[in-house]
Amino acid sequence: MSLIRLVYASESRLVDANRRAELDRTLASARRFNGQNGITGFLLATDRAFAQVLEGQQDNVTETYGRIVMDPRHAAVRLLIEEPIAARSFPGWAMGIAERDETTGFIFGLYGVTPENDLHAQPLETLVDLAGELAGRPA
Ligand SMILES: Cc1cc2nc3c(=O)[nH]c(=O)nc-3n(C[C@H](O)[C@H](O)[C@H](O)COP(=O)(O)O)c2cc1C
Repeated sequence: MSLIRLVYASESRLVDANRRAELDRTLASARRFNGQNGITGFLLATDRAFAQVLEGQQDNVTETYGRIVMDPRHAAVRLLIEEPIAARSFPGWAMGIAERDETTGFIFGLYGVTPENDLHAQPLETLVDLAGELAGRPA
């Protein structure tokens, strides 16, 4: 069994009126599934886009990603990398999250992630570095 990391970015289909509640519901079910499947990682979210790092055993990550891709709460899911890793980068997170808001917007901006150039338009390195920064660990 081998440990892998998968990173994707997507366009959000959550609408403003119930974005908060939908995101909370998504995260709660993600953490429940991830706990059962030994998946850890980090989710970046803005009003318009998502990017997510998934880590775990290959079969579990592949199965989880298969479900995520089908989820109508986002679209245009773009797989950025799926690669073997020696160790997890987010071992303590059944799924961490950082949303762009008044507090974090500055940090997103430092990495070049703006409403005009949102998560789904960013390269892998930017997303991984930003997730590491927002998870409070050196990237
Ligand atoms: C942005 C986003 C991130 C998600 N992250 C995860 C995740 O980390 N793990 C997971 O099991 N499901 C995740 N989901 C939810 C799955 O896509 C799916 O809805 C959930 O696993 C329930 O599947 P089911 O309705 O087929 O039972 C995510 C969904 C979205 C939209």
